[in-house]
Amino acid sequence: MVSRPHTSVGVAVAVAAASALVLAACGSGASADSGSSAGNGSSGSGSITVYNAQHESLTQEWVDAFTKQTGIKVTVRNGSDTELSNQIVQEGEASPADVFLTENSPAMTQVENAGLFADVDKATLDQVPAGFRPSTGKWTGIAARSTVLVYDKRKVQENQLPASMLDLAKPEWKGRWAASPSGADFQAIVSALLELKGEAATNEWLTAMKTNAKVYKGNSTAMKAVNSGEVETALIYHYYFYGDQAKTGENSVNVGTHYFKNQDPGAFVSVSGGGVLTSSKNAAAAQSLLRFITGKAGQEVLQKGTSFEYAIASDVPANPALVPLKDLQAPTVDPAKLNSATVTDLMTKAGLL
Ligand SMILES: [Fe+2]
Repeated sequence: MVSRPHTSVGVAVAVAAASALVLAACGSGASADSGSSAGNGSSGSGSITVYNAQHESLTQEWVDAFTKQTGIKVTVRNGSDTELSNQIVQEGEASPADVFLTENSPAMTQVENAGLFADVDKATLDQVPAGFRPSTGKWTGIAARSTVLVYDKRKVQENQLPASMLDLAKPEWKGRWAASPSGADFQAIVSALLELKGEAATNEWLTAMKTNAKVYKGNSTAMKAVNSGEVETALIYHYYFYGDQAKTGENSVNVGTHYFKNQDPGAFVSVSGGGVLTSSKNAAAAQSLLRFITGKAGQEVLQKGTSFEYAIASDVPANPALVPLKDLQAPTVDPAKLNSATVTDLMTKAGLL
């Protein structure tokens, strides 16, 4: 995962230290609650709590800009997709969360299926193209990320790369690819495979993966292993590469990116989600955060910041360093259909979890 620096300030730090959720998007890193307040005592319209499974630094950028614009105070509690979706379901109507933000959409669907999301305001939905949100309107996409096979340019020539993600199940790829199966990122890719190819094909691919893949914890760890020559390729999300390149490039200097394109399951573009909980005591402020994130200013954080995730809404183009979204030739997948429970079962059965 991208490093997630703590940005907590003031009193919130002490509170956070005592109550930090052990967590983390992408299966590594530490986190703490962090408070963000409007300066100079601006009261705005009260305060809200966000359960955040997106990368901490990205959400903090959104929240800081939102608070500055609206005066609404935001408390962020960080965790991974499934940790927080499970927590929300467990807390039910008693949840202190007003807004839930994820890295990937299966966790959103879990909360939606539990009946815990309010309808997203139409003004927000209108900012987001239909392909990046479920037709139910119970949550919305806020950003997107692409699957990519990173490879060691010293060892693998472009013409030796697999045409399809499904090829990684072939015997010739034994020991030659890496992944982080415990993370929500990889599990979202499997959920797309399940939706596109069905349970039998997914089961077969996962069984072959158990034999063929080297397992790492965290996408950035897998990419580092490629860079250091430990393994030839890794199936991860794109922003780990671009994020490293934008810093020192030390963990990706030997790494190339291979996009499967051609509507391949490996060309899956995952949607990060945002939703307002029915338990919210300040639904107007919660809705306004989603409207802000999917609006021009929120999407420009994606375009111009260091997250390297894709902007998807309000006609804001992607960060120019990235392959344009339309060129990725992603398969059409309804985010509402991505099923995390079956994926976890199949991966457990295959010995990957
Ligand atoms: Fe990630």
